[in-house]
Amino acid sequence: MEKLDWANLSFGYIKTDYNVRSYYKEGKWSKPRETTSEEVTMHMASTCLHYGQEAFEGLKAFKGKDGKVRIFRMRENALRLIASCQGIMMAELPVEIFEEAVIKAVKLNEHFVPPYGSGASLYIRPILFGTSPQVGVKPSTEYQFIVFVTPVGPYFKGGFKPTPVVILRSYDRAAPLGTGTIKVGGNYAASLVAGNKAHELGYSAVLYLDAKEKKYLDECGPANFFGIKNNTYITPKSTSILPSITNKSLMQIAKDMGLKVEQRLILEEELSTFEEAGQVGTAAVISPILRVDDLEENKQYIISKNGEAGSISTKLYNKLRAIQLGDEPDKYNWVTVLD
Ligand code: PLP
Ligand code: COI
Repeated sequence: MEKLDWANLSFGYIKTDYNVRSYYKEGKWSKPRETTSEEVTMHMASTCLHYGQEAFEGLKAFKGKDGKVRIFRMRENALRLIASCQGIMMAELPVEIFEEAVIKAVKLNEHFVPPYGSGASLYIRPILFGTSPQVGVKPSTEYQFIVFVTPVGPYFKGGFKPTPVVILRSYDRAAPLGTGTIKVGGNYAASLVAGNKAHELGYSAVLYLDAKEKKYLDECGPANFFGIKNNTYITPKSTSILPSITNKSLMQIAKDMGLKVEQRLILEEELSTFEEAGQVGTAAVISPILRVDDLEENKQYIISKNGEAGSISTKLYNKLRAIQLGDEPDKYNWVTVLD
């Protein structure tokens, strides 16, 4: 293993030793087994290549002060993958196989889990896709599930420093009753052009509006949105956003910190009333928002007046990290500690 500069990792792919795979054939999933191969071979008419039968997950493992490795909310990701499978007619992967494969992949690559204090973590990427040939638009009869891991640093450059986001009204990420609530590759393909445009213009992400009325906040490219005002944590309710496990965790933490929590429609104009706002997700953790520009409407909403993260976002971030790293007792039972 090459020597890694743990404190300066970016969010990218670094080869690790093993990945773990399970195959679905004749109605059954095989026991997850490790391989050192980074390659996948499949039929050229596989449904994942033609009709987008592919879903993925993202979760993280952390090394604590005690040297133990902790995986955050693995079961929630297993359940969301099942929802994704149902959404695009793929064979559902049992929770037990998901958990066994994730634990195996982390354990076999344990020396890639970044050390405590580095700010980095081990990103776990489960993927599931259809591999049998079809030419008509039909679901596959065979599937492959792979879990690979890779050590990562912050998703957004600057980590916890507020960044600007942009509303680009000519793009939608997902349809109101489409696949926005599940984690399928097609949603990300649909977000590439707008995401690229945002990056070229100097923004960290696109803040999507609801696709129907273009009035309400939906979510950021790879993360949910939250705003804070009057001691209240407010996050969008929508039929086209991914139910973020980080956001769900923060809603719980916010409640227990004495904040009110509201999951509801948020008009774009309400942005002008937020004292703080952020993007939340596994990769993003909490990434505070500096300002939101609505380019076509020529509107600008300044969120962070001094360019720094707000006090409530900082408290939420610290609390979440403390649970993930094992600095605080896991009173919610969110963490799987590896032996
Ligand atoms: N929204 C989208 C579109 C995402 O890709 C992600 C990342 O997984 C999230 C939200 C955040 O979800 P989670 O906190 O479960 O990682
Ligand atoms: C995650 O937060 O796990 C994501 O999937 C975001 C992005 C890297 C797609």
